[in-house]
Amino acid sequence: MSRTSETSKNNQETSSWKPQEYQGDLHAKDRLLSSVHKISSLLTRPVALDTVLTAIVEETAHVFGYDRVAIYLVNKDRKLLECKYEIGFTPEEMEIAFQRPFHLVRHECIETLVVKTGQTVYIRDYDADSRVTYLDRKVSAKQNRFATIAVPLHLRESVIGLIEADRGGYPLVLTEEDIQHLSIFANQASIIIENTRLYEQLVNERNFAENVVESSPNCIFVVNCDETIRTINEMTGDFFGLEKEQVQGRAASEVFEGPVAAIIREAINGQITESRELIIRRKQGGRAVLGVSSSQLKSRDGTILGAVLIARDLTEAKRSEEWMRRMDRLTSLGQLSAGIAHEIRNPLASINFNVQFLARQLDPDEKTRRIIDDTLTGVDRIKDLVKGMLDFCRPAPPKLKSDSIRQCIEDAVSLLESQFRKHEIRVLLSLVQDAPDIVFDNQQIHQVFVNILLNAMQAMPKGGTVRVESRIERDAKKPRRQLCVTISDSGVGIPKDDFSKIFDPFFTTKPEGTGLGLSIAHKILEQHRAVIEVKSREGQGTTFTLRFPIDDGRGHVPV
Ligand SMILES: Nc1ncnc2c1ncn2[C@@H]1O[C@H](COP(=O)(O)OP(=O)(O)O)[C@@H](O)[C@H]1O
Ligand SMILES: [Mg+2]
Repeated sequence: MSRTSETSKNNQETSSWKPQEYQGDLHAKDRLLSSVHKISSLLTRPVALDTVLTAIVEETAHVFGYDRVAIYLVNKDRKLLECKYEIGFTPEEMEIAFQRPFHLVRHECIETLVVKTGQTVYIRDYDADSRVTYLDRKVSAKQNRFATIAVPLHLRESVIGLIEADRGGYPLVLTEEDIQHLSIFANQASIIIENTRLYEQLVNERNFAENVVESSPNCIFVVNCDETIRTINEMTGDFFGLEKEQVQGRAASEVFEGPVAAIIREAINGQITESRELIIRRKQGGRAVLGVSSSQLKSRDGTILGAVLIARDLTEAKRSEEWMRRMDRLTSLGQLSAGIAHEIRNPLASINFNVQFLARQLDPDEKTRRIIDDTLTGVDRIKDLVKGMLDFCRPAPPKLKSDSIRQCIEDAVSLLESQFRKHEIRVLLSLVQDAPDIVFDNQQIHQVFVNILLNAMQAMPKGGTVRVESRIERDAKKPRRQLCVTISDSGVGIPKDDFSKIFDPFFTTKPEGTGLGLSIAHKILEQHRAVIEVKSREGQGTTFTLRFPIDDGRGHVPV
């Protein structure tokens, strides 16, 4: 470290050769090199900006022998010069420095001068230097500063900050070489600061992009050109039941089902897919409808990197769509049948009356008597049917009460108990204990369960098993919990072609059926804001699932 006095400098200028001085110079250069090397080594690994600034300040104090060192950085957006780190100052002095940044336009002082001019400012004596401003004097009074050196941190054409150093209350005598060494050090420090900032920015951007992908409600996954998986987001993991770490690097065709793997292949080959609907089997069970979009992933220079797939879970949307379709059909069929029922009722009453009148007028023989009786039986059946139709079309408003549904299910089962026994049908009940209450009309829901249980019984002419189970479900997409009741039989099942029709009024496959049981159940459930779903496999059985919103005391009112 060369802290030579003015006299020794003059001696140098007169080129008198002094071995000790030469050695001192070498020593100083050596130290400079080693400190530049030391801070440069920070570039070889990712370090936080704070660590870098700390190292620069400490190295400046240590190598150049200053008592107090501070580093300031320019905040371009706010036009401020902010003190980032300093050593050697008292806690009060530090607090002032950190809390009161210099304003690059409004404040005239040594620090802003360095940034504005890009020049080093060395003030050997505050009292004898015209560059010292009113603000500098104020600062110097507070900080006991009589001399200072401030070197800019240059980066290409701009100044990103400065390093300022002094010796507290002691004189600061520097040679040109001292100043030059500090500038060399500062230049290296600027590069390191900038690199660290760029790295931090890069990491922030990467984290930001990752956050966007991770918090997406859609499944997003990226595949490489060789069809191996590069990454999947959290939603993909949840939806497909995959662990991110376990699928990375694996072949997409091993991890995803055929149709998804096919879209991946097409996407890599440049074929864009827009919202193609796929039905996939979920690992957790059940099927789901996915809307998949894909595109090729390219780097800036156009190199194909792979493909990105975005998949949206459409299962719920499809379900409500189907529900709405069913409702539409029910409503129009309901209106139509209400009209017909109404039209039939009057002529039917006349037929009934006329037939009875004729029977009384004539003195019918045995054969005629039978014809008249058959006619009246037929008329009665039509009357029942018309009543059923009108019940369906204009059901009484439900009388709602918050209660446990368990009893209602058990009542329906016990009502049919003797019939079940007669048909050699076993009933297995597994209902949640202490299930929360739901809001419902006991009589109507009882009718729903009876209708469904009767259908189950009729679907098992050779006997079998009916399972009635309940459980509480929480759908992630819905805030409310729901009570889920399933009724499964081991009966004949529903043929594919009939599947979409079973809720239609008058659709029946039974010789004595009315085809109104399920449509009435549907209507009642709709008024309870409950939904009904059916799954069936021909020859194996059918499961009806009913989902009731749970009364959580937040004023839930069905209808
Ligand atoms: N558990 C079941 N198993 C098989 N088919 C069923 C089942 N439940 C309903 N179905 C089918 O749905 C149709 C309509 O049922 P529903 O509306 O109750 O009328 P109905 O029982 O009078 O025929 C039935 O005729 C039958 O084809
Ligand atoms: Mg029925």
